Amino acid sequence: MNRLIFELYKKIAFKIDPEKVHDVSLVLLETVYKSYLGKLFHKKIIKKSTKEFNIDFDNPIGLAAGFDKNADYLNFTSNIGFGFIEVGTLTPKAQSGNPKPRIFRLVDDKAIINHLGFNNKGIDYAISRIRKFNRNIPIGINIGKNASTDVKDAFRDYEYCLRKAYSIADYITLNISSPNTKNLRDLQKGEKINNFLHSIKSLHDNLKKVYKKHTPLVIKIAPDITNEMIFELSKLLDEYEIDGIICTNTTIDKSSLDDQYKDIQGGLSGKPLIEKSNAVLGEFSKVVNKDKTIIGVGGVDSWETANKKFKMGANLLQLYTGLVYKGPGVIEEILRG
Ligand SMILES: Cc1cc2nc3c(=O)[nH]c(=O)nc-3n(C[C@H](O)[C@H](O)[C@H](O)COP(=O)(O)O)c2cc1C
Repeated sequence: MNRLIFELYKKIAFKIDPEKVHDVSLVLLETVYKSYLGKLFHKKIIKKSTKEFNIDFDNPIGLAAGFDKNADYLNFTSNIGFGFIEVGTLTPKAQSGNPKPRIFRLVDDKAIINHLGFNNKGIDYAISRIRKFNRNIPIGINIGKNASTDVKDAFRDYEYCLRKAYSIADYITLNISSPNTKNLRDLQKGEKINNFLHSIKSLHDNLKKVYKKHTPLVIKIAPDITNEMIFELSKLLDEYEIDGIICTNTTIDKSSLDDQYKDIQGGLSGKPLIEKSNAVLGEFSKVVNKDKTIIGVGGVDSWETANKKFKMGANLLQLYTGLVYKGPGVIEEILRG
């Protein structure tokens, strides 16, 4: 989509409720991109080839989880220039998420606060969408737990989703860092993460034997963790042969925001997240084994912000909020840089 058209679109779209406009725009765009006419809009992928997880990526810029939770918009998201996309977060059962309104635009900060709470149509629905889609770029599947599942039983939800996603995903993300599902982030800590990875990994090993295929497993972490936790996690990545890490999810730290936004519940993404997510990315790349893939995400919206994450050790990048504020042209801007 041309930048001028996007700016015009934004003038109207930013007057409408963020969640509504997201859903309506994507239904329309998907219809167009799926049609014969839509082929005219398909962007040729700019090649900056790279290999991670033993997968060839045409370029290292991906769509972050949450934008197309249910794999409803694959014709659009995989034809605007991304080198890969991640769908989800998906849970075993469909669920409606937290009460609305639950997405807030902070235009002056180039940021979003969301309190969605894994609203999704359930993993079975998304898997059937992906199966029918003739994919042209790698698709990662991001999985989580239902709100009704106690955190001590969370591994059961992740195991259910892992079984469903294993044969079809190019990689699978364990999202243990959303701030919008009660106590989910506890899974990142101490004995909990150890026990969790222990059970997930033994299922992963079994699935590998059944399907005779290795589907890479990555963990998505929060920017609100200590260096000590980063160090512990990096050891666990080795112990359980996890393939990579996504740094990071949204932050609950609103200290950089104007007072009027500080009390909005949810996770903050976009520009105000950059420093926190880069700090976690930098610390991880210092301590983690070099064979692990690091996916950097948080505030990427230009060549400069992307380049900084690569310099700090990221192998692949993802973005979400940058796409909302700058449109699909941001992908080309980064890759041309
Ligand atoms: C509206 C919204 C919904 C999101 N939903 C998810 C989600 O379901 N699962 C997930 O792992 N991350 C989710 N995220 C987090 C993003 O994937 C990403 O980690 C975060 O927004 C930081 O990147 P950004 O600054 O480029 O947006 C969501 C972000 C936003 C803004």
